[in-house]
Amino acid sequence: MSDTLIDEIADGIYRLSTFVAEVGPTGFTFNQFLIDDDDPLLFHTGQRMLFDSVSEAVATVVPIETLRWITFGHIEADECGSMNQFLAAAPRAEVAHGALGCMVSLNDLADRPPVPLANGQVLELGTHRVRHIDTPHVPHGWEARVLFEETTGTLLCGDLLTQLGQGPALTSNDVLAAAAQAEDVFGASCLTPTTAPTIRALADLDPNTLAVMHGSSVTGDCSGALRGLADDYERRLLNSTAA
Ligand SMILES: [Fe+2]
Ligand SMILES: [Fe+2]
Repeated sequence: MSDTLIDEIADGIYRLSTFVAEVGPTGFTFNQFLIDDDDPLLFHTGQRMLFDSVSEAVATVVPIETLRWITFGHIEADECGSMNQFLAAAPRAEVAHGALGCMVSLNDLADRPPVPLANGQVLELGTHRVRHIDTPHVPHGWEARVLFEETTGTLLCGDLLTQLGQGPALTSNDVLAAAAQAEDVFGASCLTPTTAPTIRALADLDPNTLAVMHGSSVTGDCSGALRGLADDYERRLLNSTAA
């Protein structure tokens, strides 16, 4: 029996969520997103220790051997720890990432050669269209990127708007205070002069749904949530350099 919860948060886009009580002061969710289409795409694999649970959850939506694309935001265990286990389980699957991430890490780490994507390049999945967007060092990692599913307006935004604890799969409530609390606890975000402008450019996509890696996904005023996050990070950066 899988410990991973499954919710459809947009048309054909499933959130697979595993709660780990030991992480952080109130536990932490690790979420993957599966786009069900002719060429199914997984965004985030989870850590190697989660492979059995996550792959069982994937299999309730699509046969695991039909996975076509293994994707994630940046190189970290929760993003891509079980990448090679998924490549082994899905013979036609390929890792697709930004060209920089392929050059710096994935050509070496991935058991099959990854597919390098140019900034703005689109993967056609069948009905869904997924655009690759480079976001260097946002939220962290030189090779960082996000994906934007254009037909549903779903931004697969990874660690942006991370929240502690376990909330609903999807919320239209304001999550900015929760995101600020998580940043206070973990200090995970790379705060540079380009952080806020990069997040504001994502807000300009005017997404309908934000698929969040840790915590609830967001619907409603998504661009407002991203702009609020950018403002918070900008304040933190300015405060750190004001002394
Ligand atoms: Fe991360
Ligand atoms: Fe993460």
